[in-house]
Amino acid sequence: MLRATDASASYGEVAVFRDLSIEVDAGEVLAVIGPSGVGKTTLLRLLALSHEPDDGSVALDGTEAWAVDAAERLALRRRVGFVFQEANLFDASVARNVEYGLRVRRSWADRAGSLFGRSAPDAVHEALDVVGLADETGRHAASLSGGEAQRVSFARALAYEPDALLLDEPTSDLDPRNTAVIEEAIGEARDRGIGVALATHDMHQAERVADRVAVLLDEGITEVGPTERVFEDPADERTRKFISGELVY
Ligand SMILES: Nc1ncnc2c1ncn2[C@@H]1O[C@H](COP(=O)(O)OP(=O)(O)O)[C@@H](O)[C@H]1O
Ligand SMILES: [Mg+2]
Repeated sequence: MLRATDASASYGEVAVFRDLSIEVDAGEVLAVIGPSGVGKTTLLRLLALSHEPDDGSVALDGTEAWAVDAAERLALRRRVGFVFQEANLFDASVARNVEYGLRVRRSWADRAGSLFGRSAPDAVHEALDVVGLADETGRHAASLSGGEAQRVSFARALAYEPDALLLDEPTSDLDPRNTAVIEEAIGEARDRGIGVALATHDMHQAERVADRVAVLLDEGITEVGPTERVFEDPADERTRKFISGELVY
C-alpha cells in the first residue's frame, strides 16, 4: 500500500541511507527497529511523503508521490497520519485537538459535514474512546500529563481515518500504563485495516505489537520478516548481533 523503492535519503551532505526498499501493507503493524541516529525518523518522514528521496520512489497505492504535482502529493499526504515522539497539541480542549485532524481531512474528502457517515462529534468520541479518554473531551490540553497528551495525539491521527499511520517512537517518554494504552490502540488501528509503521528502539515493544519487523542498521535494512522469525532466527549475522546486544552502537 505504502512503498519506498530503492530510496536514498540525506540532509545536504549527510547521507542517511541508500537504496532502501520497504512496504507497509493495509492492516499490518510493521516495526522499524534500529539504534539511535540510524535513520528511523527519516524513513518515516520519507513514507509520510514529507522528505523527498534523492533517488528512488515512494508510492501510495501505486501513485508515485514525487512524480505528481504538489496538489496531488498533498492529497496523498493527507491519507497518511503521523504521531510524533512528543505530543504536539494546541492550546485548546481535548475534543478540539482531535477535531482538528477531521477538519483537515474533511476539507477535501467530505464537505458535507460528516465523515464516513459519522458526525464529527461521534468520530472524535470514538477515537478518544480507543485511547481511554472519551470522558475527557472538555479538558484543556495544558492540563494533561505527557502520557495523556500522547494518547490525544494518537486519537487525532486515528479520527482522521488515515490509510497509513506512522508512529515515531510514540511511547519512548511514557510510563508503562500509558504505553500499554498506546500499544492497544495500535492493535485497534491495525484491526481497522490501517497500515501501521512504528519506529522504536524498544525491541520488546516490537515483539509485543508488530506483525513484521524491519531492522535498520548503518548498512540499511539488514532484515525484514515476521516478528517471531526475525527475533528467534535472524537470517542476517548483523541482525543477530544487534538483537542479541553484541552489536553495540
Ligand atoms: N534535519 C536534519 N539535518 C541534518 N541532519 C539530520 C537531520 N535530521 C536527522 N539528521 C541526521 O540524520 C541521521 C538519521 O537521523 P534520524 O532519522 O533522526 O535517526 P533515528 O530516528 O534512527 O534516531 C542522524 O545522523 C541525524 O543526525
Ligand atoms: Mg528518531
